[in-house]
Amino acid sequence: MHKPAPSDFPVHQLILERWSPRAFVDKPVPQNLLRSIFEAARWAPSSNNEQPWAYLVATKDDKENFEKMLSVLVEFNANWAKSAPVLAIAVAKLAFAKNNVPNRNAQYDTGAASLLLSMEATANDLFVHQMAGFDPEKARQVFGIPAGWEAIAALAIGYPGDPDSLPQPLKDREMAPRTRKPIAEFVMAGHWGHTAPFITK
Ligand SMILES: Cc1cc2nc3c(=O)[nH]c(=O)nc-3n(C[C@H](O)[C@H](O)[C@H](O)COP(=O)(O)O)c2cc1C
Repeated sequence: MHKPAPSDFPVHQLILERWSPRAFVDKPVPQNLLRSIFEAARWAPSSNNEQPWAYLVATKDDKENFEKMLSVLVEFNANWAKSAPVLAIAVAKLAFAKNNVPNRNAQYDTGAASLLLSMEATANDLFVHQMAGFDPEKARQVFGIPAGWEAIAALAIGYPGDPDSLPQPLKDREMAPRTRKPIAEFVMAGHWGHTAPFITK
């Protein structure tokens, strides 16, 4: 399914095209594409070039690993994410490697890596649906995530499928128009709450 963002101002086509499907086609993602999307994550900017992210990945052909991944998702997410051919968890290292000082941008940088991964996916007709709905402590146990690292988000990756494959409430959400706050609400200048003048001119 194609679901371009109805933007108020011109932006790159890739940004318009990215969206988060819940229905996926039963089709594996070629390994070269998987390598490319994680290569895109690799080139994300990060505070002090710390690159605090790591990804645990399960492809559907690896049944045991895929089941482990599904087991850490909340039921709502597991019910639709099981149709994706690839599941992943983004993990962040919470302190700088060189001095163990807390890295207050670790989650931010990991999000940036996941978004670059998502954009590279979109450029290859692949789509990524990130999820907060999973149990980070269960992920720690199931995958042996070490102390000092924190599971941040789960990701379902694959080719968008037929919305009719979803149960009714999810089908409606899949088809619903995409909405966002106007930029005037979040782009400010001079003082909190004052919309930046270039927005309204
Ligand atoms: C960090 C993060 C957590 C999210 N958690 C969930 C989730 O647990 N379940 C879900 O169905 N969607 C989840 N989403 C998807 C958002 O609902 C979705 O990105 C948002 O509605 C905007 O839609 P779009 O990505 O199609 O533009 C999450 C997205 C992000 C970035």
